[in-house]
Amino acid sequence: MGLIDISEAGYTYSDGCSALKNINLSIEKGERVAILGPNGAGKSTLFQLFNGLLQATSGSVTVQGLSVCKEHLPEIRSKIGMVFQDPDDQLFNSTVRQEIAYGLMNMRISGKALDEAIAWALRVVDMQEYSAKSPHNLSGGEKKRVALASVLAMRPEVLVLDEPTAALDPRGVSNLISLLNSINRDQGITLIFATHDVDIVPLLADKVYLLSKGEIVLGGSTAEVFKDKEVIRKIDLRLPRVAHLAELLARDGILNMDALPLTIGQAKNLFQTR
Ligand SMILES: Nc1ncnc2c1ncn2[C@@H]1O[C@H](COP(=O)(O)OP(=O)(O)O)[C@@H](O)[C@H]1O
Ligand SMILES: [Mg+2]
Repeated sequence: MGLIDISEAGYTYSDGCSALKNINLSIEKGERVAILGPNGAGKSTLFQLFNGLLQATSGSVTVQGLSVCKEHLPEIRSKIGMVFQDPDDQLFNSTVRQEIAYGLMNMRISGKALDEAIAWALRVVDMQEYSAKSPHNLSGGEKKRVALASVLAMRPEVLVLDEPTAALDPRGVSNLISLLNSINRDQGITLIFATHDVDIVPLLADKVYLLSKGEIVLGGSTAEVFKDKEVIRKIDLRLPRVAHLAELLARDGILNMDALPLTIGQAKNLFQTR
């Protein structure tokens, strides 16, 4: 039994749009998993099956063996923290502190424990100075950090992030990647994120599932999945930039390699060993 098991699951919207078909996947505790697919592939729909915002119209979805249905939702939602793509869908309180307190108070946490949990979450995302500010007056990247803090404060076992780097500037992306990796490493939180940004995937995922037109077309370790260049290109994605450069150098006989580097770090090692 995995942490999240999805078996032959499908989802059809009420207008007849068949957004997910025959999805099979199993996510283990502590893994870092990317759901990689172009716009409209079904990533956001899939994520809503994890915590019961949507119910699969066929097949089964379980979290630690509990089927995702009404009676299990409180328990499942306490395990799975969901960070939406657009922080404006998540933030609705008048201060950053209240935003983070909200979920904790629903869990009946109060007094010193509440203060400590808020302080901890703000420290993790480096937003201690912002606690009295209105979330609506923050920049896009700051809003994302507050949304993440409000979810982290509840100490979920799994962090699900829909397009976490969308609308962030380059520094924001690199800070978020470091932050998510340290959360996974230091607290053992399982990371599941959806993206079409191929360059971030090798920096943030051990496992990748390629989603196209509602179906998983390929799944495996990050290295395995990026070996299948044809499938990646066929579903309107591309290789990471550095892999594409290496591919051209190999094609022109300038550099031989067994496997394409996927990150700048891997490319640097490859050049240094020449
Ligand atoms: N509320 C909805 N009603 C009908 N169709 C929807 C709805 N939400 C999404 N879809 C359709 O489902 C498919 C998958 O959408 P989505 O899960 O948002 O993809 P992604 O997150 O990968 O961009 C798309 O074809 C989209 O048009
Ligand atoms: Mg989406």
